[in-house]
Amino acid sequence: MNNKDMHEVSIILTGFGNVGKAFVDLVQKKAEVCRTKYGVSLSLAAVFRSQKALVFSPALALKDNPEGLNIISGDEGIPGWKEDRRLADVIENYAPGVLVECTPTESYTGGAGLDYIRLALDKGWHVVTANKGPLVVDFFGLMERARLKDRCLKISGATAAALPTLDVALYALAGTEIVRMEGILNGTANYILTRIGEGSDYLTALSEAQKKGITETDPAKDVQGWDTAFKVLLLTNAIFDLSFSLQDVKVEGISEIDPGFIRDCREKGEKLKLLGRMEKKEDRFILEVKLLSLDGSHPLYNVDNTEKGITFETDTMSSVTVIGGKSDPQGTAAALLKDIINIYRYL
Ligand SMILES: NC(=O)c1ccc[n+]([C@@H]2O[C@H](COP(=O)([O-])OP(=O)(O)OC[C@H]3O[C@@H](n4cnc5c(N)ncnc54)[C@H](OP(=O)(O)O)[C@@H]3O)[C@@H](O)[C@H]2O)c1
Repeated sequence: MNNKDMHEVSIILTGFGNVGKAFVDLVQKKAEVCRTKYGVSLSLAAVFRSQKALVFSPALALKDNPEGLNIISGDEGIPGWKEDRRLADVIENYAPGVLVECTPTESYTGGAGLDYIRLALDKGWHVVTANKGPLVVDFFGLMERARLKDRCLKISGATAAALPTLDVALYALAGTEIVRMEGILNGTANYILTRIGEGSDYLTALSEAQKKGITETDPAKDVQGWDTAFKVLLLTNAIFDLSFSLQDVKVEGISEIDPGFIRDCREKGEKLKLLGRMEKKEDRFILEVKLLSLDGSHPLYNVDNTEKGITFETDTMSSVTVIGGKSDPQGTAAALLKDIINIYRYL
């Protein structure tokens, strides 16, 4: 790759928990391939946690200094972390790059992530986000801000992450009409349902999922169906350019399943699945999260454990199903990196 074609990209990372740390690890491992294959040279400008931030000035060039990143991983005693840093002050010091948003999902107010994304877009930064909260609260407003500044707001990390959903709908299915969408979109819920199907009890399965680091900061969002509802909402709004809100989604969870339902399902050789569904009937949309018992003929029947899957029913390409994309912090980090690569490879 010719050096003059190289995009020098500064990254500011907000949130340094499971996903933020996995993102830093991954970028470190993939720095070389990003440069040689995609012409994207990534540098880390700053990392923000809830109470402190680490600011690199100049931005830490990942290709030159891979071991430099180790200094931020985990160790609480590192001298570089400072408590009095604000994104608004720090962001001014770098040429616009990409804000990578990984703070906890807060779906009532949008949380700190909403302010971070608004600020970054207004300052001319692209944004990739794993955080669904800001998108649930103000999807249309944020997309409009991005459009006004001619910036990208990419949301793969917030719409089932390692499972390609939006990219399939927007690119692979371009020109079709998607009339129905049905997905296993939450790895925690699917893991718990798989384990229950194997005879485990709900609480043991939930605790196993938490140990894997795949649950939301507040796991109630996974098991009560809200995380799936967020994804159905975001996918529908992004695919159809609409502005539905969470109140438009009928939501069911998995925390109180009738034992008789589990037994019946097992006896019939069926599997319990929490499905996020969208159906378009002429101009009317039905959005829902529903616990269903699937038989072996359903395309998502074999999607088990932390795996996810989505089926799109289209007018001209019939039914298209994508399966995989294990739900874990590394997969989410990879979705964030994919979005960054795809922003710059077509510029
Ligand atoms: N875990 C997954 O597999 C997964 C998959 C897809 C999407 N997501 C989404 O990714 C996001 C991060 O998930 P996670 O599992 O990494 O969460 P997490 O482990 O709880 O980490 C959250 C991070 O955000 C930081 N934070 C909290 N408030 C902040 C603020 N005001 N400013 C800056 N940083 C702040 C926390 O700071 P401290 O370090 O100081 O506590 C922590 O570093 C969530 O929105 C989640 O829904 C996660």
